[in-house]
Amino acid sequence: MEFDKPAQELTADIISHTAFGSSYKLGIEAFQAMKELQENFMASALDVQIPGFKYLPTERNRQKWMLEKKLRNTLMHIIESRLASKGSGNGNDLLGLMLKDCTATDRGKQERISLAMDEIIDECKTFFFAGYETTSLLLTWTVFLLSVYPEWQEKLREEVLKEFRKETPSGNNLSKLKEMTMVLLETLRLYSPALFIQRKPITDMVLGEIKIPKGHAIIMPSPIMHREKKIWGEDADQFNPSRFQNGVTRAAKVPYALLAFSIGPRACIGQNFAMLEAKSVLAMILQKFSFTLVPEYKHAPVNCVTLQPKFGLPVVLKLLEVRNWII
Ligand code: HEM
Repeated sequence: MEFDKPAQELTADIISHTAFGSSYKLGIEAFQAMKELQENFMASALDVQIPGFKYLPTERNRQKWMLEKKLRNTLMHIIESRLASKGSGNGNDLLGLMLKDCTATDRGKQERISLAMDEIIDECKTFFFAGYETTSLLLTWTVFLLSVYPEWQEKLREEVLKEFRKETPSGNNLSKLKEMTMVLLETLRLYSPALFIQRKPITDMVLGEIKIPKGHAIIMPSPIMHREKKIWGEDADQFNPSRFQNGVTRAAKVPYALLAFSIGPRACIGQNFAMLEAKSVLAMILQKFSFTLVPEYKHAPVNCVTLQPKFGLPVVLKLLEVRNWII
């Protein structure tokens, strides 16, 4: 089976349930439009940028406008239906919490929304975009590494079976999966789904010996920084989850060397959610299947805003103890 595709559908489904609760099916429609927009963006990323060109009704621009409209309309429909069915409260999904936080009551009577509709839509887009592809890529690259290092796959399976036997993994106990945490962190180091962190100083500043003028973007490339031997040691290029056995801040020569979720006040707000999600999905796979790469697998990680396997991740799944299952 092509592991990367169902992994994307699964994480889109999970974030859609989390963000939109009962309206998750519409959320999936929004997700489709967002995915196509990303493809449209990637297709034009290397075009020569001619001023004003983005306003011309070229085929690609028209497709982009159509998708943006579809995305906005779908999200607006979800939000308006939620506001209209106010009787049952805002709901305890992400949208419900956001609406609860941004509705204010005037003298205890009339409710008004303190965030504009466009701002709520933008928040939904950010969560959706930030939340599904990154996590599916974390799962994809972990399955890749566990296929290449079957001894680690077996270690994790033993850990999962010891903790859960054949029961469905539950939230609290997932934090006990120490070796799985180490493998996920090592995957994030070697195959960080988010490739760059970017910052623009709002005033002229000096960083070490570098002068950075106001408004100039600085790009920090995680894949390069994560393989820096001076920071991570001589085995920086190798898969060695044990480097994380004393925790993430002791894995390298400096405490905050792992930048996969970034650091500081704008660090990933969904990192605990993502780790929990990845652990529960992996635990359920390991309980039932062993997996290997197909012999024709071609290793080609490629920059598509996120780090993706260019030719997908075809794997052979084997149903444990029962029968071989090749899709
Ligand atoms: C393996 C999975 C994930 C990775 C590798 C990842 C990585 C990142 C990175 C590198 C940033 C940029 C931070 C910066 O610019 O300094 C970020 C921001 C963000 N992420 Fe994630 N993320 C993941 C999963 C998620 C999930 C599941 C959610 C939502 C449920 C999420 C929501 C966000 C949001 C809202 C921001 C913007 C935070 C802000 O600007 O204050 N992420 N993420």
